[in-house]
Amino acid sequence: MSDPDGGDFAASVLEGLSRKPKSLDPKWFYDARGSALFDAICDLEEYYPTRTEAAILRAAAGEIAPLIGPGAILFEPGAGSATKTRLLLDALDAPAAYVPADISSEHLNGTVVRLRQDYPGLRVEPAPLDFTAPIVLPPSLSPAGIETAPITVFFPGSTIGNFAPDAARSLLRRFRAETHARRLLIGVDLIKDEARLVAAYDDRDGVTAAFNLNLLVRINRELGADIDVDGFRHVAVFNAAHSRIEMHLESLKAQTASVAGQQIAFDAGERICTEHSHKYTIDGFHALAASAGWAGGVHWTDPDRLFAVLLYESRRDPEA
Ligand code: AVI
Repeated sequence: MSDPDGGDFAASVLEGLSRKPKSLDPKWFYDARGSALFDAICDLEEYYPTRTEAAILRAAAGEIAPLIGPGAILFEPGAGSATKTRLLLDALDAPAAYVPADISSEHLNGTVVRLRQDYPGLRVEPAPLDFTAPIVLPPSLSPAGIETAPITVFFPGSTIGNFAPDAARSLLRRFRAETHARRLLIGVDLIKDEARLVAAYDDRDGVTAAFNLNLLVRINRELGADIDVDGFRHVAVFNAAHSRIEMHLESLKAQTASVAGQQIAFDAGERICTEHSHKYTIDGFHALAASAGWAGGVHWTDPDRLFAVLLYESRRDPEA
């Protein structure tokens, strides 16, 4: 398989299913079908983050671009289809390069082909990598050394919300240390009323349910497992104490499945946690970013304050 860490899938799944409570790492959602389902989620009426963030970027790109400056190198971890990136590329002053990184090489290749067609003058350097592991940017990006290159990390979509606050802090710190980025432009989903949040993760057409259940389909296909996918249901709940949406797969009956040669038992009603999606206030996110060495936060939001786009500068202090 083409994923850079394909060999880790079995180990990660077995480790997650042997925990109490059981869990699976959400990064495994994104096989070809999972990526297509995620693109479909982004178009759902209930899933406000994508269109809201795009509207914010569209309205604010003219203000953001001069703050990033000319000749920027844009690095996008988990770039996927890079749809929102275009709003930024269209506004930036002569960007030197765009470096989309994605765990799925297939998805990355398609994105690169389309971008090269639409931005013939732009240097596009794909990086097939899992950004949850140490990031090494192509050294050819800057002959004078990555340390001196004007790199901006673009991390839209509130993907940061899929990490628990401690993990989010260390990821933001790693973005600084490993890419030597000067700036971070990040999209963050904001705390709002529970009904709206739950609807965004439990849509009436069942697209999010199919996305969640596809993880079991992937385990069956890639790990020779025999999980009864119809024996599970999608559950999305808001955990107010932790300001996060939780997605689970709930077993509808007591059952046992064989996964990569191991027998895994599920009780009736037992849940596998498949994703946390943390929601923030703007001040709360500024505090998290500051603790990871990102300073001087400027933000843009929509009239209903559903979502925010925030721009930070790397603190000079190398110990930060
Ligand atoms: C990728 N990530 C930011 C999405 C989210 O909203 O947490 C993943 C997702 N899961 C269900 N719907 C969307």
